[in-house]
Amino acid sequence: MKVLILNGSPRAKSNSAAFAQAFKEGAESAGHSVEILEIGKMKIGGCLGCEYCHKAGNGQCVQKDDMQIVYPKLAEAEVLVLASPIYYWSFSGHMQSLISRFYAIWKPAAKKYAMILSSGSPEVYDAPISQYRSILDFFGAEDLGIKTFCGRGSQATEENLAAVRAFGASIR
Ligand SMILES: Cc1cc2nc3c(=O)[nH]c(=O)nc-3n(C[C@H](O)[C@H](O)[C@H](O)COP(=O)(O)O)c2cc1C
Repeated sequence: MKVLILNGSPRAKSNSAAFAQAFKEGAESAGHSVEILEIGKMKIGGCLGCEYCHKAGNGQCVQKDDMQIVYPKLAEAEVLVLASPIYYWSFSGHMQSLISRFYAIWKPAAKKYAMILSSGSPEVYDAPISQYRSILDFFGAEDLGIKTFCGRGSQATEENLAAVRAFGASIR
């Protein structure tokens, strides 16, 4: 399958980047074709709610930012993986902005999703997990799994990376 991993961390050498790479390695070992998009480093504004996309825009967003790179990938990927740090009990702003921009295309093509969250503290995942499940329900998509990691400093331990590689290798 064609797998697109969206890394929502804006940080260099982030936990989310390490997990995205480990998921890629695992999924590739199982024969999938995988691309990581560093959306945390892109310029992606939140949806303006202007409805241009559903009127004169005919499915095109009025904002010409880095979503122009992302939209064609969303049209092709069969699996979408959301990798995000937790910011104030939710997704990073980059990830949240990107999700709001689904509005122009209504639904990405992917019918399967997975999610990897990284936080400083444990038990801070209720909001993004609830949002993720509601979105999948709305899209009629399948959840391939969720992994969460927490702690100060690097979470890219061999144990955690091996768990994410196995996660990537497990998708069907
Ligand atoms: C703006 C901001 C908000 C954060 N909010 C939370 C939070 O609400 N709960 C938490 O446990 N960690 C919070 N953190 C810590 C990050 O989630 C944590 O360091 C995470 O591992 C960063 O992931 P990354 O390395 O992929 O960027 C926050 C960090 C930042 C910069």
